[in-house]
Parts: sequence; structure tokens; C-alpha cells
Amino acid sequence: MKILITGGLGFIGSNFIHYILDENPEVNIVNLDGMTYAGNPENLKSIESNPRYKFVKGNICNYELVDYVLKTHHITHIVHFAAESHVDRSISNPDIFIETNIRGTLTLLNAAKANNIQKFVQVSTDEVYGSLSFDDPAFTEENQLCPRSPYSSSKTAADLLVLSYVHTYKLPAVITRCSNNYGAYQFPEKLIPLMIRNIQMEKKLPVYGDGTNIRDWIHVMDHCRGIYATLMKGKVGEVYNFGGNAEVSNINMVKFLLKELGKGEDLITFVKDRPGHDVRYAMNFSKAEKELGWTPKYKFEDGMRETIQWYLSNQDWVDNVTSGDYLDYYKKQYNSEK
Ligand code: NAD
Ligand code: DAU
Repeated sequence: MKILITGGLGFIGSNFIHYILDENPEVNIVNLDGMTYAGNPENLKSIESNPRYKFVKGNICNYELVDYVLKTHHITHIVHFAAESHVDRSISNPDIFIETNIRGTLTLLNAAKANNIQKFVQVSTDEVYGSLSFDDPAFTEENQLCPRSPYSSSKTAADLLVLSYVHTYKLPAVITRCSNNYGAYQFPEKLIPLMIRNIQMEKKLPVYGDGTNIRDWIHVMDHCRGIYATLMKGKVGEVYNFGGNAEVSNINMVKFLLKELGKGEDLITFVKDRPGHDVRYAMNFSKAEKELGWTPKYKFEDGMRETIQWYLSNQDWVDNVTSGDYLDYYKKQYNSEK
């Protein structure tokens, strides 16, 4: 099995590469990543010289490059992670989300079709379903697609292109949709690593709106196991939901982190809400349990404690990825208190 992984220097992609190299001695990986602000070679430093791993720097929107990589490495499978992934950035600068998430996916689909790829896994998100109220049932795969941010709209467009290629060209593709991941190597613009860093530095903790918005948190390794199960057993044309069974409001998440790090709540600062902020996500993943034999293994508190410990022990990694672009962005974004 020769797998092209796109976006393998990012948070979930790099965890997936560590996971699959350990899990399956038969796989060879080629990682195609454009090295945006979110792609960090440090994430894969420990496997750089593994003979089963190769890195190619490049843009997924470049058809000639993708086609060349598929041909020269005799790629049989594609797992597609590469994306612009941060909702706030999609609100301030949607164009690159359209380019990477839609045009990039289309480019990969065309190259997959031309090279007879045996399986294409599109890594998608619960955000394509829109937003739940506090008492709605969790999203199933049958829910209407109702994206509400430029990010989720671009992911929805990509998912629909994938399904259209299954239908029209019989491309053997399958889609995973997952809730909010936490774990090692997450870029500290996202809630959990951002808050851990700010708590350590005794900086304000910017909670959007009133902090009651709910996310369903899943450990990144549970997600990786789900993607792997989909790659091996997922049925062509199907969508599989993954979730962590751990719905937590943002304010409770921040209080949990403060408690774990032994700090008081005075750093909490309620700031202007994210425009169009989705209220709640929750995933019904019974289809993945039934058809893929998958279930989340991590208990929320255990996974979170392990994650906090990882960030505390990897301060160099955090300092390294938060230099440059990120700091300017951060200053612009979070200086408005409510
Ligand atoms: P990330 O932002 O950490 O990483 C994205 C990676 O893609 C980076 O390495 C970046 O360099 C690369 N990339 C971006 N544009 C590229 C381009 N044009 N060409 C090549 N490489 C490019 O993202 P993540 O959080 O690891 O998310 C990975 C995937 O999982 C995304 O598709 C995202 O929509 C999906 N997802 C994420 C979550 C989550 O909680 N983070 C949950 C569900 C689904
Ligand atoms: O649900 C899956 C999605 O989860 C993925 O598809 C996205 O790629 C990923 O970025 C994530 O999106 P969210 O917008 O939910 O994640 P984020 O960490 O940005 O925010 C989580 C919640 O915390 C959200 O309700 C907004 C809030 N928040 C976030 C930040 C960064 C704050 O209150 N303050 C903050 O500073």
C-alpha cells in the first residue's frame, strides 16, 4: 500500500503518519504538504529518516506536481488532510479557503481519477452540518448539509465534489466527518493550545461571547484510528461520522484547563463573539461503530491531562511555531474585549 498523505505536516496529518507507520508495517507514505503557517516539519522529525516515509513540498492545487507524485511513487491510496482549517481566519480571509479546500480537492480528485487510485479518503468535519441548538439530537450522516462559515462552506463544497466523482466517474472515495480534535502538535491558534499557552504566560484568556458554545472533543488518536478504519474498511460513496462523546462548553473547557494548571479564573476575559458562531456540535457515530468496529477509546479527562502534559513538555515546539505570522495575527484578532 503506497499512500499519498496531503497536509501531513499539520496537526491531524502528522499524528496520522506517526500512527499508521506504527500500525501497519506494509505501508509506505509520501507526504505532500505546502508548508503553510500550520505545517511544521518538527512534527515528523522523529520519522524523517524512516525509509517508508518521503516528504514532498508542494501545493495540492498544482495538478502537474500531484500527477507526477502519484506516478513516480506508484501511489495506490490517498488520504486528504491538507486544508486551511481555522474558522476565524476564514472569516477574515476566505479566498485562500476556496483555493485550497475546493480547488485543491478538485485537483486531487482529477489526479486520482487519472491514476486509478484504489481509495481516496476525504477528511472532513462536523461543521458541514451547521449548528445544533442545546437540545437537538446529535448529527447523523443523514443530516442536511448546512455550513455557516466560509471554512465549513469550503469543506462542504469539497465533500460534494468528492461524492460527485464517486457518482459520475466511479472514483472509489469515502468521506470522514469528525468533531473537534485535541492532542499533540495542534497549532496554538485553536482553543486548547491557545489557552494552555496563555495560562502559562499569565495572559488573558479570550472567551468568545458568553462561552456557552459547545464542542464535542475527541482525542486526535481516536480520530486517526477512525480514518485508518475508513481507509481499510469504509464503503465507497459512504460518509462516516466520528466524535468523542465529550460535549463541553468553551467556558467549562477554559475552567478545566485553569484548574489542571493550578491557576485562578481571573485571567478569563469575555471578548467579542465570533461572527456567525455555531452554537453546538455533537456527533452520532453509531454508523462507524456498527460498520467499522470503531469507538472512541480516550476518556476526556485522561486525554486532556495527557495533552496538557505534552504542551508543557514541548515548550520549544510551541515557541517555534508561534513565531512570525501567528503573533501578528493574534494581536489583530484578540485585542477587542467585550
Ligand atoms: P492544520 O491546519 O493543522 O494542517 C493543515 C496542513 O495542510 C498544514 O500542514 C498545511 O501546511 C497543509 N496545507 C495547507 N494548504 C495546503 C496546500 N494548498 N497544499 C498542500 N498543503 C497544504 O489542519 P488540521 O487541524 O490538522 O486538519 C486537517 C484536516 O482535518 C482538515 O481537512 C480539516 O478540515 C479536518 N478536520 C479538522 C478537525 C480539527 O479539529 N482540527 C476536525 C475535523 C476535521
Ligand atoms: O468541529 C471540527 C472543527 O473544529 C474543525 O473542522 C476545524 O478545522 C477546527 O479548527 C475546529 O473548529 P472550531 O472553530 O470549533 O475550533 P476553535 O479551536 O477555533 O474554537 C473552538 C471553540 O472555542 C469555538 O466555539 C470558538 C471558541 N474560541 C476559540 C478561540 C480560538 C474561543 O472562545 N476563544 C478563542 O480564543
